[in-house]
Amino acid sequence: MIPKSGLELIRKNCDAIVWQNELPPTQTELKIRLSGVQGLLCLLTDKVDKEIIESDPNLRIISNMAVGVDNIDITTASRLGIPVGNTPGVLTDATADFTIALMMAAGRRVVEAAHYVREGNWKTWGPQLLLGADFSEATLGIIGFGRIGQAVAKRARGFGMNVIYHDPSVKPVHEAIQVELEDIFRRSDFISLHVPLTDATRQLINTRTLEMCKPNAILLNTARGGVVDHDALALALKAKRIFAAALDVTDPEPLPVDHPLLNLDNCLVTPHIASASLNTRSRMAEMAAQNLLAGLAGERLPNCVNPEVYDRKFAE
Ligand code: GLV
Repeated sequence: MIPKSGLELIRKNCDAIVWQNELPPTQTELKIRLSGVQGLLCLLTDKVDKEIIESDPNLRIISNMAVGVDNIDITTASRLGIPVGNTPGVLTDATADFTIALMMAAGRRVVEAAHYVREGNWKTWGPQLLLGADFSEATLGIIGFGRIGQAVAKRARGFGMNVIYHDPSVKPVHEAIQVELEDIFRRSDFISLHVPLTDATRQLINTRTLEMCKPNAILLNTARGGVVDHDALALALKAKRIFAAALDVTDPEPLPVDHPLLNLDNCLVTPHIASASLNTRSRMAEMAAQNLLAGLAGERLPNCVNPEVYDRKFAE
């Protein structure tokens, strides 16, 4: 369920049907609940596809409690003049913090070391025990240099890392060097993904790109699971083709418990919690509620991913 502050805002201003279960609704359940309503506030676990959107002729606003909107068919929403809201900005710091947590954990083998102790393997201090990566002077390659990518860069510089990035849509930024995508793979000690999931970024990390990586490379994904080919990654990690990976997002979510990635010491998987700090999730819920209420009132959404719906309305 969405955090209280967002829900209260909604309940104060309109009637709401609230999905109470921990697991998301099935497509059929979603369609039934949507029947006749004017607004939808959804989570990234809700697949708001063409069929769902078209099933409710009264739908005037879709508000996602997430910054990523790959769970929503934006083309259909735009065609029907339905604005789609998201929650950018408020989760930038929490997500960047967690990316650094993953970088440290994977680089210095924190989880593996904790398991080592719990399993009774710790016999003595060892000069070569559980050696990990160095951060100072290491190169961090960031793919996708929007708000979150830049916040990760800022933190990494504090550790004395050199930052390079690839993002054709971002102008060169002070203290970070824009490089070709191939250079990210060839030069980086750490590779961090911060792109939305689109047709262009789907399985960007695959057998071919993993083969370009340095053997000490560590892959970090706090973006979307679909950006990585998990079978190719499992093979690369197993063969020690790269050093490690830390994934907060996977495809599918959750990964089946018998997935090869969950059986590798050099792979750390967390359950999509990069933005899961108390304040951040409350702010996301409030922002999603504000988008929803603006849409219901026929006003411009404070944060809209398809503003072209307004241009069209004004042109008509
Ligand atoms: C979380 O993954 C989000 O997109 O907000």
